[in-house]
Amino acid sequence: MKALITGGSSDMAKAMVEKLLKEGHQVAVTASNVDSANEVKKHYSKDVSVFVLNLHENDNLNSELTSYLAGCDYLILNAATKVKKLKRFHHIDKGEIRDSLEADVVGNTTLIQLALPHMIKRKFGRIVFISSIAANIGSSRYGLYCLTKNAMEGLIYNLAVDFGRYNVLSNILRPGLMQTSRTERFWGKEGYIENVSKVIPQGKMGQPAEIASALTSLLAEDCYINGQAINVSGGMPLVSRYL
Ligand SMILES: NC(=O)c1ccc[n+]([C@@H]2O[C@H](COP(=O)([O-])OP(=O)(O)OC[C@H]3O[C@@H](n4cnc5c(N)ncnc54)[C@H](OP(=O)(O)O)[C@@H]3O)[C@@H](O)[C@H]2O)c1
Repeated sequence: MKALITGGSSDMAKAMVEKLLKEGHQVAVTASNVDSANEVKKHYSKDVSVFVLNLHENDNLNSELTSYLAGCDYLILNAATKVKKLKRFHHIDKGEIRDSLEADVVGNTTLIQLALPHMIKRKFGRIVFISSIAANIGSSRYGLYCLTKNAMEGLIYNLAVDFGRYNVLSNILRPGLMQTSRTERFWGKEGYIENVSKVIPQGKMGQPAEIASALTSLLAEDCYINGQAINVSGGMPLVSRYL
């Protein structure tokens, strides 16, 4: 099968690519600019194609990426813009709101619209949106993140309803507290891992490979999961105890 995973530089994408390559799939990833694409290429073997995709610029998508999407069986929407600064919602200006909607909603929907008609025609497709448990528990000062993740989740439910009968299955994975380079600023602090591990029912932070492991069941040919959101979070938002 042919897969596209957006945000190829992220630790979770790296784990998902590794898993899919091991299973014998053809895999491509995206990077938000040429410099990042060059870095990303160094990480992967030559078998992995790297396309430049800036989610903010959706009108002129690279033609190679467009044609790859036409033949894509697995579309894994993993890229997300950075939350630069945590803010209370009334301190976020309209420009930031528009930027975030343009990238994290319009950007992702552009990719779906390019892949979907071909999946329907082939009667096979797997669309997986990487959301976050943070978006479903209203995490403080993450207003825009909650807004765009939930907008995409809503669309995924609609796609599941409209296209499930064409064997185009759409699902959501919601990572919990993951130990990735994005979150190192938190777990790098002394005592953080120990403290959050007391709260997470499984007693540990998540690892990128655990996202990859959850992904494979959603891609299987005999998958009977459609329109579901799966928390890959060691049990969160349930908590073992309050700190
Ligand atoms: N880490 C966690 O604990 C955690 C928890 C819950 C959910 N998640 C979700 O899991 C996914 C991966 O997270 P991560 O922590 O591995 O992320 P990360 O390391 O910060 O990576 C984010 C990815 O998004 C890409 N990206 C950012 N802005 C972009 C743009 N304008 N256009 C195209 N691509 C862009 C980046 O590409 P470049 O590097 O090329 O710029 C990068 O590959 C995200 O959707 C995130 O919301 C993460």
